[in-house]
Amino acid sequence: MIELSRPWQEAARPGRRVGHAIEAHLTIGSTNDRARELVANEGIVVIAEEQTSGRGRRGRGWHSPPGRGIAMSAAVRPRLAAGDAWQLALAAGLAAAAACEPVARVGLKWPNDVVSSIDGRKLGGVLIETVIAGDRVDAAVIGVGLNAMWPRSDMPADIRDEATSLGELAGTGVDRVALLDRLLDALSDEIEAIERGESPLGRYRTRCTTLGTVVTAETAAGTVTGRAVDLDERGTLVVEAPDGRHVLDGSEVLRVRGGGS
Ligand code: BTN
Repeated sequence: MIELSRPWQEAARPGRRVGHAIEAHLTIGSTNDRARELVANEGIVVIAEEQTSGRGRRGRGWHSPPGRGIAMSAAVRPRLAAGDAWQLALAAGLAAAAACEPVARVGLKWPNDVVSSIDGRKLGGVLIETVIAGDRVDAAVIGVGLNAMWPRSDMPADIRDEATSLGELAGTGVDRVALLDRLLDALSDEIEAIERGESPLGRYRTRCTTLGTVVTAETAAGTVTGRAVDLDERGTLVVEAPDGRHVLDGSEVLRVRGGGS
């Protein structure tokens, strides 16, 4: 039996864009799947103590053992052109990083892995699923996973070397309800900013740990190794490699090594 020190609903704020209501589960397959079912209810958030089939980007899985972190998905209907849908991923990454910041220094490894500023280990990720209708974003599910109270020694072998958690970094307990509350505040602010036409790119650049580092990116077309020199106006990564410049789209890149700290 999983017991919370206080209920997730304490992070719900009436009138807030994202997280005016929270549906909490002890266990679920994936909060993204449940949020997709609720997408007509703009701003509702689904959270679970445990996911049994948590999903990561590019078809990978996401570990969400009971009580160790935040596994949450928000259903939103952003007033956004389809061509600007890419901004949601950057906005969500920025919100996740802002929520962590009072506990530990973090950055964003391109495109939106939340990583420790100290050792580059990953402690969070973002999975966005959008429904496009014509030239508009009709709906989006914004999934965020954050490792909170999860010692590295307890992590499964497949992630232990490259992953960390807020508690591990801070050496203290982490109030997960307060962490969720900050995340929902920041997500609401970021979504409202992009709806006003403010690109998240400027803020993203200051958080991005990948710029200036040497990365190896696996794409469907092959492997690219070079220095990450810029982000273009759509948030794609510009890499200077021996054979020339490559522009890497986050939705096409399978994996980026390096560039995390
Ligand atoms: C990644 O870095 O690959 C993205 C991880 C996203 C995980 C979160 S946890 C809540 C939501 N539900 C899921 O199944 N995935 C996302």
